[in-house]
Amino acid sequence: MPIYNPKFMPKLIIDDITVEVPEGTTVLEAAQSVDIPIPHFCWHPALGKAGACRVCAVKMLDGPVRGIQMSCMLPAQDGMVVSTTDPEAMAMRKGVIEWLMINHPHDCPVCDEGGECQLQDFTIAGGHGIRRYDGKKRTHTNQYLGEFIAHEMNRCIQCYRCVRFYQGYAGGTDFGVMGRASMVYFGRQQEGPLDSPFSGNLVDICPTGVFTDKTARFRARYWDYDLAASVCPHCSLGCNITPAARYRELLKVIARRNDAVNGWFICDRGRFANAAVNAPERPRQALVDGKPVTVNEALDVLVLRVGEFLELHGPASLAIVGSPRMSLEGNIMAARLCKLLDAGALSYVGDAVQAERTMGAVSLLASGNAASLADVRQADLIVVAGCDLLEEAPMMALAARQAHRNGARVFVVGDECALDGARQELYESQAVTSLSDIPLTEAKRPVVICGTHPKRPDTAPLMAPLFGKKGLQTPVKFAFILDGPNAFGCALLGREHDAVPLSQAFAGGAIKGLISFEADLPAELTAGITVLAATDWQPTGLMQRAEVVLPCTAWVEQDGTFINNEGRAQRFKQVMRPGLPIKGLDPAGHPPRIHRNDAPGGDVAPSDRVIAMLIQRITGDTPVDGPLSGRWEGLRSLDADGEGKRLTDAA
Ligand code: FES
Repeated sequence: MPIYNPKFMPKLIIDDITVEVPEGTTVLEAAQSVDIPIPHFCWHPALGKAGACRVCAVKMLDGPVRGIQMSCMLPAQDGMVVSTTDPEAMAMRKGVIEWLMINHPHDCPVCDEGGECQLQDFTIAGGHGIRRYDGKKRTHTNQYLGEFIAHEMNRCIQCYRCVRFYQGYAGGTDFGVMGRASMVYFGRQQEGPLDSPFSGNLVDICPTGVFTDKTARFRARYWDYDLAASVCPHCSLGCNITPAARYRELLKVIARRNDAVNGWFICDRGRFANAAVNAPERPRQALVDGKPVTVNEALDVLVLRVGEFLELHGPASLAIVGSPRMSLEGNIMAARLCKLLDAGALSYVGDAVQAERTMGAVSLLASGNAASLADVRQADLIVVAGCDLLEEAPMMALAARQAHRNGARVFVVGDECALDGARQELYESQAVTSLSDIPLTEAKRPVVICGTHPKRPDTAPLMAPLFGKKGLQTPVKFAFILDGPNAFGCALLGREHDAVPLSQAFAGGAIKGLISFEADLPAELTAGITVLAATDWQPTGLMQRAEVVLPCTAWVEQDGTFINNEGRAQRFKQVMRPGLPIKGLDPAGHPPRIHRNDAPGGDVAPSDRVIAMLIQRITGDTPVDGPLSGRWEGLRSLDADGEGKRLTDAA
């Protein structure tokens, strides 16, 4: 691998625009940096170059290299004069597209990629409109690749992106390329579900329609979707996503680039585990004692019942329960409700060990020592302790793999999370029993990844001596795997408002009733406790037991904020309006046959709004401040399209 001087900036001219870029930048990237588009299929920012498709041709008019060149393969050099519009270059690109299209089925009208297809775009942009070849097309047999990904090999243009991602980037071994010359086949030795927990990225990375999302098949075109910048709620890493919805139904999830967090990719859990949003059993109706009422009626009854409860048992007997899967805004409002009612306990977590470990992790992540996923990808030494990365935070495992591919050594402390055969494909690791076995002094960018799961050994005390340790080339950075997309936010709020784990609150026997917001609590923990009210968009046990049921919006139906495991606050935006999906209204899937202005089941609000309405009723209609006020004011201007704001940096 060539060693580049990051300070040297070659200067070149592309289409009469002078461009200065860091050494090592390709001509294609240099052109992109000044918004000059060059067609490309095989090149991808995360996968680099392959020189396979030949569609990025440009003409080098002057300088150290002359003639037609592939811009993705050529490093920018001083004195280059490049033309992307030279007739010879344009003719070359047009010819390449024509060759690529010779065997392509031209099936855009029935292809799910249509409208979001790079091949379609560059074919049209390149001016290839008339098909001259009238011979027989090469055809392939497709494979069943599992329930998530559809395979249509005839659309393939042999860019090799899929295999470079699947095997190289993600370490999968059950998918590859077979054949020779123009008869190459991208698939499995035998058909069957793809093994990789990152297989869904094939859908995003394929520049044509070979791999499409089977779960959203034939449901919409790209321009039909409701789309917005969002954040994955399935673990604590906060990977950036773009959910795509239509007619109040979440149809699919696309990875969204954030170089500081997930880069270009997401895991299959984040992409495919979202059926709960559209589930028929999702609570959409406010209930009082099991009877349907409006949200306003339910809130009125709740105010009365809370009053009666407090009179009978006293405020110390009431617990307000928030949750690490609820937005920061919702959890802030839960704390306000607790203060207003002078309730006996505010809880964000049920399990005491989990709460203690999360609090400990958040306290340890002071300024500068929290590792982002980008830090993990760039690490030269990684220590993994007390966690199963693929299970608890798959994208952290993928980040560790990138570091390993670049030469980082990975050490696993203890043998409780030894990697099984399948997982060793991601990175090779060395099991050690103590920190003294790890050559930390040799590392320039060491990162320690620590779990906090209550069922695993507590490794944070073992790692504690590394915080601020002297004598290392660079201070160690830390990444903790927490439980839930907003576990960090809950820990900050818990510290601020003296929250206690619910198991601890119940231990004294004083708590007799609770009001919960998007909380997942085991049935045995809350046995014998009156559930005065529960707010959720998932059909939890608490929702089934609650006297007053208040459905709320899912994260894709509201704006909100999650704080990820490194303390990065990220805004997610409303993707779709709440309400019963049109498909769910009629078993035959027909749209409603009556005209109405509101969406059936759309009478729901985000949890923070539900709490604000409750507070307003209790205080006699006093206006309620928005949740992001006071110490949270700085998060109001968070841009969902940005990299987020690290609260640990500000400390
Ligand atoms: Fe340059 Fe494919 S993008 S050869």
